[in-house]
Amino acid sequence: MTDSPLDKILILDFGSQYTQLIARRVRESRVYSEIVPYHLSIDEIRSHQAKGIILSGGPASVRTKGAPRCDPKIFSLGIPILGICYGMQLMTHVLGGGVARSHKREFGRAELFVDRSSPLLRGLPHRIPVWMSHGDRIEQYPPGFRAIGKTGNSPTAAIQDPKRRFYALQFHPEVAHTEKGIQILQNFLYAICACRPTWSMGSFIHLAEEEIAQAIGKGKALCALSGGVDSSVAAVLVQRVIGKRLHCIFVDNGLLRKDEAKQVMRTFKQSLKLNLKKVDASEQFLAKLAKTTQPEQKRKIIGRTFIKVFDEAAKKVGAVDFLVQGTLYPDVIESVSVKGPSATIKTHHNVGGLPKRMRMKVVEPLKTLFKDEVRKLGLELGIPKELLYRHPFPGPGLAVRIVGRVTPERLDHLREADAIFIEEIRKAGLYDDIWQAFAVYLPIQSVGVMGDERTYENAIALRAVTSQDGMTADWFEFPHDVMKDIANRIINEVKGVNRVVYDISSKPPSTIEWE
Ligand code: XMP
Repeated sequence: MTDSPLDKILILDFGSQYTQLIARRVRESRVYSEIVPYHLSIDEIRSHQAKGIILSGGPASVRTKGAPRCDPKIFSLGIPILGICYGMQLMTHVLGGGVARSHKREFGRAELFVDRSSPLLRGLPHRIPVWMSHGDRIEQYPPGFRAIGKTGNSPTAAIQDPKRRFYALQFHPEVAHTEKGIQILQNFLYAICACRPTWSMGSFIHLAEEEIAQAIGKGKALCALSGGVDSSVAAVLVQRVIGKRLHCIFVDNGLLRKDEAKQVMRTFKQSLKLNLKKVDASEQFLAKLAKTTQPEQKRKIIGRTFIKVFDEAAKKVGAVDFLVQGTLYPDVIESVSVKGPSATIKTHHNVGGLPKRMRMKVVEPLKTLFKDEVRKLGLELGIPKELLYRHPFPGPGLAVRIVGRVTPERLDHLREADAIFIEEIRKAGLYDDIWQAFAVYLPIQSVGVMGDERTYENAIALRAVTSQDGMTADWFEFPHDVMKDIANRIINEVKGVNRVVYDISSKPPSTIEWE
């Protein structure tokens, strides 16, 4: 998107955990933003033709040797610059001010006294709560600067040089705790950088289509459609441009949820008219899985079998030059920046492991989007909401939700229990409050009684968690009457199950999946 005619803000990433949040806030303000590593060359920075630059925060101190520095020539580009936290200290340091260690490190909430005559802080109340996180402070402003905001501990919590259009904040305007943070960022975007709020999914689709047309030309492309959000949206977008020259392959590995394969085919082949082939490889997967009870072994078998099945199906398509992948922005940033955001778990469906001879050029039409933007894009492209807002589902599917050996019978029981669980959650209106909910098959038998008969049958564990990103999670507190209905239905309707338990472990120390 380097040549985008849209107004663009460049964010230089110094490794803050909030860098992605800055980009999102800017995009939510309908201005296109890109995150680049702090060490990008001045020529590359210039080639972006950004209307403004934001220097992110970061864990380092400018006072230490080897602290990350950007090319100081950015301050001669003649465009507005906003420094946040570490970005403020770096700006101060480079432009001739003084940065010292704070006597009092400031973390968390503080109250900012606002100079409302500053273009950056115009329209704000006299005092606002802000979110601080820093150990260094500005001791002396660079020439041309003055303070425009202070807190109890920081007389220089916000500074400006309006002539050169340089602004800097000690606090984080991008986090929700800084209540008027979005207004501060929008003052920077609209009033100071003169950006127009024109970034929308419509403009993205238009640009993306041009790029896809240019990249693929008259060629053929292949896509491994999993039915998940990313590959689905990528495929539908590419199909708009190259039509039937996009060949989608959906591998049914026999480890999907109840009716999932049917739904995928109905949605994408019948409704959205993708050139989609289903390969039913259930038997192949299940035969291989029959040999193991070990979680990591299961994942390896599934990954390898997937590649083999996909490769065989791809051969039938003939010569193909391009592979469409649903890579998202966080994965891209992670690979280019100082210290990426928290690690993302990759699925085997990221077909990076394809054999070398299948050398295809990779087309990644979603590589500038965040997950929530991909969902919005999917809606614009006509993909059903229910599919786009589904809970995450692991690549190895139900195989990691059956503790121990995977058998067709266990899969059937698990599918039924899982479908009832999700149906009841939806009925109670709780689906969107939960990050992920699913049933787990436990290979233990326990005693029960049904009618006058003693039973000796299996147990189903239910897991429902809340989470922001899957890295940490807490168990979901169901209303008791909902739990009662779920348990009654599963025990009455699923053959071979006489006991239902609810998992009340958080992550860490447990994981979300049982395997
Ligand atoms: P855990 O169990 O590690 O899961 O707490 C965190 C998130 O990752 C998903 N997950 C996987 N996704 N392949 C995937 O595509 C896998 O092997 C895999 N293992 C876990 C899990 O569903 C949760 O959303």
